[in-house]
Amino acid sequence: MNTLSHLAIIMDGNGRWANAQDLPRAKGHEKGALVVREVTTYAAKAGVRMLTLYAFSTENWKRPSTEVDFLMKLLAKFLKQELPTLLEHNIRFDVMGDMHPFSPSLKKAIAHTKEATAHNTGLTQVLALNYGGWDEIARAAQRLASAHTPITPDALEGALDNPIPVDLLIRTGGEMRLSNFLLWQAAYAELRFTPTLWPAFTCKELEELMDSFTQANRRFGGL
Ligand code: IPE
Ligand code: IPE
Ligand code: MG
Repeated sequence: MNTLSHLAIIMDGNGRWANAQDLPRAKGHEKGALVVREVTTYAAKAGVRMLTLYAFSTENWKRPSTEVDFLMKLLAKFLKQELPTLLEHNIRFDVMGDMHPFSPSLKKAIAHTKEATAHNTGLTQVLALNYGGWDEIARAAQRLASAHTPITPDALEGALDNPIPVDLLIRTGGEMRLSNFLLWQAAYAELRFTPTLWPAFTCKELEELMDSFTQANRRFGGL
């Protein structure tokens, strides 16, 4: 039986969920944020140590500015709105990715949520924001190069935003690709893809995927 310590999710399908019911894409993102709360509290209760959620990729800036602006506002709202839930469930909040392009107020809200939950000892919820695997690995390599540290796998891993290996990686929305998510950390992750669009994803389906992870034969290159 495998222990699920680090769960990572590519929360895809918000726009298609909204389009399917003649709603603007923004409504899909709003509903998606509610699913984040349900899934996070479920994972916390199930004893998962870390939940990393792909919320905004380095490539998502290519979207129309109206959608990007909406997502930034939703993020600020999410940070404010979720704090009581995080505190109630002993959840620590963290982020990964390059925070530089974000507005000063969003950076402040991120720092505030991190500080307010820093002493929590249950699940760590990590939001991947302006995150891309290529960018993370390149920034890690640059850090080592600047410090004249030899680039070994261990050193590179230690210089990542978050080096903790992923046990189970789920992507909703039907696409079977990683879209630049956790390229290093997912090297030996169990991958599960579901056609369910993120706003329609339920804790029951999460439970089933977690059960299938528990049964998997993880060999890590051994026998
Ligand atoms: C995922 O849903 C959320 C973000 C990338 C911010 P999408 O917005 O990609 O929804 P689809 O894939 O277009 O349906
Ligand atoms: C991945 O979804 C990024 C997030 C879920 C934040 P995308 O919708 O951006 O990925 P592609 O474009 O289908 O590969
Ligand atoms: Mg998508």
